[in-house]
Amino acid sequence: MKIKNTKQFAHDLCDWYRLHYRKLPFRETSEPYNILVSELMLQQTQMDTVIPYYSRFIQRFPTIKDLAMAPQSEVLKYWEGLGYYRRAKHLHDTAKIIVSDYNGVFPNELNAIKKLKGVGNYTAGAIHSIAFNQPTPAIDGNVVRVLSRVTAYSNDVSTKESALYFETILKSLIKHETPRDFTQAMMELGALVCKKKPLCEICPVQKQCLAFKHHTQEDYPIKKSKKPIQHESYFTFVLQDQQNQTLLIRRPDKGLLANLMAFPQYLTSDIDLAIKRFNEDFNVTVKHASYLFDIEHIFSHKKWHLHVYRIKTDSDISSHNTYNLNDLPEAISKAHLKIIEKL
Ligand code: ADE
Repeated sequence: MKIKNTKQFAHDLCDWYRLHYRKLPFRETSEPYNILVSELMLQQTQMDTVIPYYSRFIQRFPTIKDLAMAPQSEVLKYWEGLGYYRRAKHLHDTAKIIVSDYNGVFPNELNAIKKLKGVGNYTAGAIHSIAFNQPTPAIDGNVVRVLSRVTAYSNDVSTKESALYFETILKSLIKHETPRDFTQAMMELGALVCKKKPLCEICPVQKQCLAFKHHTQEDYPIKKSKKPIQHESYFTFVLQDQQNQTLLIRRPDKGLLANLMAFPQYLTSDIDLAIKRFNEDFNVTVKHASYLFDIEHIFSHKKWHLHVYRIKTDSDISSHNTYNLNDLPEAISKAHLKIIEKL
């Protein structure tokens, strides 16, 4: 074992946590529902962004039953701006399943938690340890950074073997402490101290850190290079009528930004082709197209380059779905929210 005194490590870490932890809104409770909501929000979003979203969400849906009863469009509305909307749909489905299959009582068994939609190994471990205070490891990016430095782990951290390696270490540590404190302490250490640029001088486990000992902290974690991101260019059309009502479509119910409202857009580098497709889709003839601006939006694996045009047509658009952009009834994708903000 690369950590010589696991008991000392766990105690030093948790003593530090209990003195220095951030008073985050989801740390006021150990309700599994609240932990699930916070963990799903935090999966792909920064803490500072999540905090107000979490508070608004819990105020509107204080219990899992409240969430289960709400329409999906309202759940998405409360998620609007956080991105990765599949998380919101999974959360909503999970709430409905817990109400229908578990009589509204959150399952406390690890395998049952893992089967919930949107819940992978990490989130299941976080819920099991934080909400149910069980000694189950939860490995996220923060934890990997901390442990890869502490043990000077010289392999690629993104493999299955590495996950097993970190899991074994976590199990040997968590058993010495209160599980809910330990799991959060590891994350907190990664977030506040063992950052990309680490603050080793204030680290409670500095004495047992091999990377610190060898002055190699910033060499870890070791990651093999990722796939290059995919670039996609679209022509995106803004069509508004005399009453300032705007044409929007609903995206398909599968794939990127499923079910969200959006401006019509076409994946091509040829504007004439984009207009031809628009004419066919909406049974109109575009008479005029004027360039407004470009918008870029990055997803985890691709980047959208949107060339936004205002268009005018030969006939009215009242037979299609048009909306007042200041008062949308349902969520719109974050990429297209950027367009509304610039119009
Ligand atoms: N990141 C994900 N979950 C977290 C938590 N519970 N505390 C701090 N950072 C986190």
